[in-house]
Amino acid sequence: MNMASTEETKLWGGRFVGKTDPIMEKFNASISYDQRMWDADVRGSKAYVKALEKANLVTTDEMNQILHGLDQVWEEWSKGDFVIRPGDEDIHTANERRLKELIGAPAGKLHTGRSRNDQVVTDMRLWLRDAISTLTDNTVQLISTMVERAAIEIDVLCPGYTHMQRAQPIRWSHWILSHAVALSRDVEQLQEIKKRVNVLPLGSGAIAGTPFDIDREMLRKELIFDDISLNSMDATGQRDFVAEFLFWASLCLTHLSKMAEDLILYSTKEFSFITLSDAYSTGSSLMPQKKNPDSLELIRSKAGRVFGRCAGFLMTMKGLPSTYNKDLQEDKEAMFECYDTILAVLQVTAGVMSTLKINQCEMEAALSPEMLATDLAYYLVRKGVPFREAHGLSGKAVFSAESKNISLNQLTVDDLRSISPLFEGDVASVWDYRNSVEQYRAPGGTAKSSVSAQVTHLRNWRRKWEQ
Ligand code: ARG
Repeated sequence: MNMASTEETKLWGGRFVGKTDPIMEKFNASISYDQRMWDADVRGSKAYVKALEKANLVTTDEMNQILHGLDQVWEEWSKGDFVIRPGDEDIHTANERRLKELIGAPAGKLHTGRSRNDQVVTDMRLWLRDAISTLTDNTVQLISTMVERAAIEIDVLCPGYTHMQRAQPIRWSHWILSHAVALSRDVEQLQEIKKRVNVLPLGSGAIAGTPFDIDREMLRKELIFDDISLNSMDATGQRDFVAEFLFWASLCLTHLSKMAEDLILYSTKEFSFITLSDAYSTGSSLMPQKKNPDSLELIRSKAGRVFGRCAGFLMTMKGLPSTYNKDLQEDKEAMFECYDTILAVLQVTAGVMSTLKINQCEMEAALSPEMLATDLAYYLVRKGVPFREAHGLSGKAVFSAESKNISLNQLTVDDLRSISPLFEGDVASVWDYRNSVEQYRAPGGTAKSSVSAQVTHLRNWRRKWEQ
């Protein structure tokens, strides 16, 4: 590495006489990962030079030279031709260094009144804004896959579990939609975060603002931000928008890991409710009979990595003094890694959900009469028995069946009458699983009409995102 030229091109070279330790140089650099923001950095600079021209800090001719040079820099990045040089500490340094090589002296005016402190956070907000759009599209796509699957498989019943114990019969679609609804909250939350991401910090300088007539409102319009930051110290030193994004990713992955866990269980031989597509499973190198749900296990695992990033970054921010400190450079790897992880998870999950097969017979065979004990209590409630009492009477029926070693629906009407005289021949209808789920007709329930209403609701909701 040619250290002499590196020292000469440093943005902050003026007051330094000694050379940077090469180990420090590497330690300090963020170019290996922040180059991902090349497009945002060029966009930000193009807007900024227009504000400089308006403030008479560059001539129109200089502005045009800078704009043209920045277009060339953009071209190089987009074609993969941009060459990173030793001393290109970060994307901002690299782009400005290249601009100077391309257009010479006027490049030196681009940074007037700007600091990398307001520049980096502008770049990040531009980058994250686009990333949020991609994540929104992918999450909505996954939700659509799930909703359409729920619509098709609406007549399939399966056991619903609480505490991992058989609880009540439900529609399989009700299970699918329970996860789709959580994801729809994630989409909504992401839009809330986007509003707070979409605030322009440029024009805040290093800490104190800008002493020049930089028209921040013009910058806002040029870069299509919703708002401009109110306080330059806050604007350069806060990373709440990154923390919010990391938390969002953690929560969304928590939802997906929970869904993956259910599916892993349902895919076991013991359950056999679903069969994963070969495209999303792998074999064992030792046991030929095995088909492992690796896709689902990895989906489940990624929540740990992302939450770790979220917790780690909050630790980095805790107790920092006001405004910009180099600690904040840690924000980018966390943001990029969480983005890459969750995007991959969303895409794999959509693949898994659109290709898995359900085994309706196994699902319905897993329903058992004791899951209708609640309905047996409701039978008595409909005949005027207070619920607490009905619960106790149904419990007695369960006990009686257990002590006779028969299933609940094998108790005769006489057996039941000895528990309560209100039991009559029509109690037979309680033992029908389809009748059972159809009772749960209130909005949000598992009756066909209620599940259909959820499908309709989510289909309408999805339209919001189809522009
Ligand atoms: N690469 C730096 C970062 O990511 C850019 C800002 C540097 N600012 C400074 N005052 N050294 O945070």
